Amino acid sequence: MLRPQVIPRRRIRIPAALAAATTTAVLFIGVGNAVSIPGKANPASLDSRPAGTHEIPSIARGRYLVAVTGCNDCHTPGYGERAGEMPVSDWLTGQSVGFSGPWGTSYPANLRLTLQGLTESQWVVFARAERRPPMPWFSLKKMSDADLRDIYRFIRSLGPKGEPAPAAVAPGDKVETPFILFTPQTVMTPALSSDRTR
Ligand code: HEC
Repeated sequence: MLRPQVIPRRRIRIPAALAAATTTAVLFIGVGNAVSIPGKANPASLDSRPAGTHEIPSIARGRYLVAVTGCNDCHTPGYGERAGEMPVSDWLTGQSVGFSGPWGTSYPANLRLTLQGLTESQWVVFARAERRPPMPWFSLKKMSDADLRDIYRFIRSLGPKGEPAPAAVAPGDKVETPFILFTPQTVMTPALSSDRTR
């Protein structure tokens, strides 16, 4: 089970002594590696961690945000039915069961594929655009840039998976997939139901 956890904010205060020690170490490595271009530091010599690992706090926070803001409820097939007990590798692959209402029929997108075509900065704009119901786009619109960027880094870290969700269907057009009807239903009046049963 995914346990919500407090993940440290990205800007971590580094004690002065540690910061000084780090600077010394960086300078030492820089000198030791005899940088080839004069006046320009070789990035590889300044950070010996494997590529991408400096993003881990952000990715972990993105995972936490996705888990607690409900993206999986719609964008991950079977997530609700299994009470969220699904491998992270299966998250956000989109849904082929539509949501039908006055807006026509909409399908939660495969975000694993959507994000492949967007840079992080493009995502920050894209994520805030208006969408068809029941996508809570107005909630994404209120998310901070930092939250959206962490979500982006988490989803990108999962890589692409699955097929694109079906295209939205306009109101009145034929729906080819199973769908969930979002129109409020009126309960039968007691007079009508008693006519039938007596
Ligand atoms: C109640 C269901 C629901 C929830 C919860 C939900 N979505 Fe969606 N989402 C949808 C639907 C439906 C669409 C398609 C909307 C359309 O056709 O305009 C969509 C579309 C999107 C799109 C557009 C993708 C594209 O390729 O066009 C993004 C981005 C998105 N959702 C992100 C999120 C994120 C991030 C969360 C969690 C914070 C989330 N959604 C939560 C239902 C949902």
